[in-house]
Amino acid sequence: MSNKEKMAASIERYQQLNNNDLCPAHFRYFYKCCPEAEALFPDDNGLTHQQMQKEVINVILDAAAEKLDFIDGHLGSEMSKHEAYDVEPQMFEIMLKSLFDVIKKGLGEEWTDELDLLWNDALKDTLKIIEQYH
Ligand code: HEM
Repeated sequence: MSNKEKMAASIERYQQLNNNDLCPAHFRYFYKCCPEAEALFPDDNGLTHQQMQKEVINVILDAAAEKLDFIDGHLGSEMSKHEAYDVEPQMFEIMLKSLFDVIKKGLGEEWTDELDLLWNDALKDTLKIIEQYH
């Protein structure tokens, strides 16, 4: 299995263990870490959350597959698009770190050292790209 497949499998496993609640759990935790972000979303935000979360997951999985040039362009354009929603660059960091924390916690004892290494590497690469756009 490739690194990307191992990380994708950890997300799938999270969903099996936690009633498919990744999207609401991730946003709940994200808002707890970044309370000012909640008001930036429209009231009827279920679909936006789902659509956005899928993209956030794609970014981290692409980092695991080391498609770093592609992510750079993709994140750069998302970050400039998100300026129109008053989203600040450091919110992107909190969004990605929240995903890591929620999955790690949700896997409980099934979280392995190997997963920890893979997720931390992918996160580190992604955060380095985000930092460029600050
Ligand atoms: C890797 C990080 C992120 C990715 C890939 C991403 C992607 C997306 C996508 C695909 C959409 C839907 C369509 C669009 O407008 O492009 C969206 C909407 C939105 N995103 Fe993000 N997003 C990210 C991070 C964030 C963060 C950190 C915030 C902070 C609050 C945020 C706030 C919003 C808001 C407020 C909307 C939609 C607003 C509306 O429909 O009025 N996003 N995002």
